[in-house]
Amino acid sequence: MAYLLGLDIGTTGTRAVIVRPDGSVVGAATGDHQPMRMLKPGWAEQDPEDWWQATIRAVRAALERAALKGAEISAIGLSGQMHGVVLLDNARVVLRPALIWCDQRSQAQCDWITSRVGAENLIRYASNPALTGFSAPKLLWVRDHEPKTFERAATFLLPKDYVRYRLTGEFATDVSDASGTLLFDPAKRDWSREIFSALGLDPKLVPRAVESPEVTGVIARETALVTGLASRTPVVGGAGDQAASAVGNGIVLPGLTSATLGTSGVIFAYTDKPKLDPRGRIHTFCHAVPGKWHVMGVTQGAGLSLRWFRDQLAATEARYAERTGEDAYDLFARQASTVPPGSDGLLWLPYLMGERTPHLDPDARGAWFGLTAAHTRAHLIRSIFEGVAFSLRDSLEIFKELAIPVEEVRASGGGSRSFLWREIQADVYAKPLVTLRTSEGSAFGAALLAGVGAKVYSSVEESASQAIEVRERMFPVPDRVAIYERQYQVYRNFYPTVRELSHQLAALAR
Ligand code: XUL
Repeated sequence: MAYLLGLDIGTTGTRAVIVRPDGSVVGAATGDHQPMRMLKPGWAEQDPEDWWQATIRAVRAALERAALKGAEISAIGLSGQMHGVVLLDNARVVLRPALIWCDQRSQAQCDWITSRVGAENLIRYASNPALTGFSAPKLLWVRDHEPKTFERAATFLLPKDYVRYRLTGEFATDVSDASGTLLFDPAKRDWSREIFSALGLDPKLVPRAVESPEVTGVIARETALVTGLASRTPVVGGAGDQAASAVGNGIVLPGLTSATLGTSGVIFAYTDKPKLDPRGRIHTFCHAVPGKWHVMGVTQGAGLSLRWFRDQLAATEARYAERTGEDAYDLFARQASTVPPGSDGLLWLPYLMGERTPHLDPDARGAWFGLTAAHTRAHLIRSIFEGVAFSLRDSLEIFKELAIPVEEVRASGGGSRSFLWREIQADVYAKPLVTLRTSEGSAFGAALLAGVGAKVYSSVEESASQAIEVRERMFPVPDRVAIYERQYQVYRNFYPTVRELSHQLAALAR
């Protein structure tokens, strides 16, 4: 029997999932990460060594739960938080903590990139505009502010590719994750020589980029000792967490769309050709399906909104959860379900780390709007669930403008485990919301990519048809759809009216 291991280097933890070719999960475990370091508003860093230690813990625990030996794993696939910048020197030592995906400090570098390359050329060469979320501006921030560190940098790796290096000793990335650097040409599926040259960057900084199912190396002997994996087990290219999650959700054919609620929230659709939004509000990247592409809209503060509420404002629930063993998020959902749809006119803007789709604004700020003395803690919570769904609906509206068909939405990520959040999404999107047998998302998709690399499946499409099964289809309820439709129109108009004030506040805190 072949077993496949998928690893997802997420924001809050690293997830290891062991899967049989029929898609059943036989063992899974998470190694938690240290919280991201936020030295200033909008800054976010993590230590790559922490990801590696979490990987070791997760792999060992998953093997133990599956009661398997490392030698029984046929292949390994990697997935991870995108856009982070890990810098190594010539001796392959990490030079500084990684600036991660949600770090927003590089607007000045984005402006410089746009002036150097030209707004139209950026779309021509990188299919996307310069955004603080992407890697190149973060890399240039280090060059501008820490020139001594930058001078010593010999290699730039994305988060999952740093873990690949620790597993195999090899430097490589895959085309989907490389697409999020702004140094890569998704249409050509190769690094963009034009952009490297315009930015004065050495192309030797980046590793080779392969299609996601391609084998990039094997588990090294020293790694086998610490992880329990067998040396010489192949490791495939894998994918950025969103493309990997899409594979795990079967988004490998036209017309299929997913909504992934992790720390970030993402609406993702498969495309046969690179599909561009002339206003750059959604990203156009290579898919993990060889020779295919995808579009996606990103909300920076999805699960992050609820986690922030838990950590900052919910000491009571946290204590109760600790005492009873109940999940704090289940307690939130129970409270939220006591309040009517629309939270009696309370809105949550989830812009806790600026916002990408649709505002492309690192200085966007979060807010509750519409508070009255009649609102309770349960309203605060329900409005967070709803505000995150509204912000994802913004991406679906752009898909509609671009004639990208959406018949139903497949829900995944930690947030999809909540019945209430699924119900709210179905009603806010006014689309059937589908859940699958497994909600493992990115790590599951990475395992399927490993299966293609190990020839367990003949293609990514075949892996989806063998391993993915629909479990539930939740239909929107017309009365609630009508309430949310009215509330969404207020949500949609709110941020543009306070954008200026939001920028003034952001400037005060710099
Ligand atoms: C995608 C993105 C996030 C991160 C973290 O563009 O920034 O989804 O990959 O999950």
